[in-house]
Amino acid sequence: MTDLFNIAGKCALVTGGSRGLGLAIARGLLAAGARVAVAARTPPSPSDGLVFLPCDLLDADARHGLVDRVVEALGAIDILVHCAGQQHRQPASDYPLGMFEAMYELHVVAGMDLCQQAARSMLPRGAGKIIFVSSVLGFQGGITVPAYSAAKHATIGLVKALANEWAGRGVNVNAIAPGYMNTEMVVPLMQDPARGPAILSRIPAGRLGEPGELVGAVVFLASAASSYVHGHTLVVDGGWLAR
Ligand SMILES: NC(=O)c1ccc[n+]([C@@H]2O[C@H](COP(=O)([O-])OP(=O)(O)OC[C@H]3O[C@@H](n4cnc5c(N)ncnc54)[C@H](OP(=O)(O)O)[C@@H]3O)[C@@H](O)[C@H]2O)c1
Repeated sequence: MTDLFNIAGKCALVTGGSRGLGLAIARGLLAAGARVAVAARTPPSPSDGLVFLPCDLLDADARHGLVDRVVEALGAIDILVHCAGQQHRQPASDYPLGMFEAMYELHVVAGMDLCQQAARSMLPRGAGKIIFVSSVLGFQGGITVPAYSAAKHATIGLVKALANEWAGRGVNVNAIAPGYMNTEMVVPLMQDPARGPAILSRIPAGRLGEPGELVGAVVFLASAASSYVHGHTLVVDGGWLAR
């Protein structure tokens, strides 16, 4: 059983690992014995012991060679977690198209770019684990989040498409879909006097998720335990979608 979930010595890149869910995932992988690099615009605390690779993922030139930088720093790329993301809330009628494109670029295009970079190393070896961080809004439309919902749906489609091509070549591509988690991203929503309590009361678990509660799902999808799991989106949402 221990071997099933063993990722000791594996080399991982976590995008958006400077704070929030990405940082919790990076810390979790590190605690499980992996070597971990994080890519973001700002560094995590040095005390976390993570290799920091500065990168603005909205900049295609800056993304270029990112996986090579991981291999240089850690020795390989075995696990890719694309967690970087942002939120912008605005009614659809006025939603700026430039922001719509930027959201798609960060959540989907940057993820595809990094998958291609990682695949150049993973496919010839016939081994690799790719995990996208989608959302329950990859299943729902949400309110005033058209770009986010569209992008998160797209990541789920992309995971299926990549899995169809790469499952037979030893590379697992999957996603996790968190529900409402306790990070900076949801602070404005939870502070909204109407939406905050409404969301909280709709979560069967009765509370927001803590970032560390994603680690089990990520270690599962990063380990041999998920060897026959391909193109799946694993929901970790306190029961939100079951409601
Ligand atoms: N919190 C939730 O309830 C929730 C629920 C479902 C899904 N998610 C998803 O989970 C992921 C993490 O969310 P979070 O709640 O942890 O948000 P967060 O606390 O705001 O963290 C966002 C992370 O993304 C990075 N990032 C944003 N723009 C970037 C850019 N242009 N280039 C590189 N890195 C960038 C940030 O790093 P820098 O600012 O340092 O660059 C940061 O590390 C996102 O994909 C989000 O959509 C969150």
